[in-house]
Amino acid sequence: MKNNLKLHINGRDHEINIDPSTPLLYVLRNELKLNGPKFGCGLQQCGACMVLIDGEARPSCRMPVGTVLKSKITTLKGLIGNDGALHPVQKAFVKEQAAQCGYCLNGMVISSVALLEKNKNPSDTEIRQELAINICRCGVHSRVIKAVKTAAQDL
Ligand code: FES
Ligand code: FES
Repeated sequence: MKNNLKLHINGRDHEINIDPSTPLLYVLRNELKLNGPKFGCGLQQCGACMVLIDGEARPSCRMPVGTVLKSKITTLKGLIGNDGALHPVQKAFVKEQAAQCGYCLNGMVISSVALLEKNKNPSDTEIRQELAINICRCGVHSRVIKAVKTAAQDL
């Protein structure tokens, strides 16, 4: 059954009339046209749909929107500053060319932002562990590790 739900996304309040069991990813992409998070597996196993929920990287493809009404939600677009400047992690991914098809890029960036929030100087192993959920079929992993380290120097 549809309800009027209030969500706080990328620093703005949104009100949406939708069933609270709808996955957050569908609300972001279909209702709000926030297309940074991608639909990959739909099973919380590939990381393509990652968003920040109160600063933690979480897959949004099976997360009922009704469970995050009190949370601060940040998508890839929300990492960009008010002046249009890219987040240091986004800049580092561009600099290190850490993308091929770009499908996994959203999740890689979101997970990297969450990692650097809690660990300013992660080792290769820590980066690998944190990004283990983010599946990339194109094999950009070594460049991603380089990008995370570059971003760590700029933060
Ligand atoms: S689409 Fe959500 S984890 Fe794969
Ligand atoms: S760059 Fe293609 S899936 Fe990662």
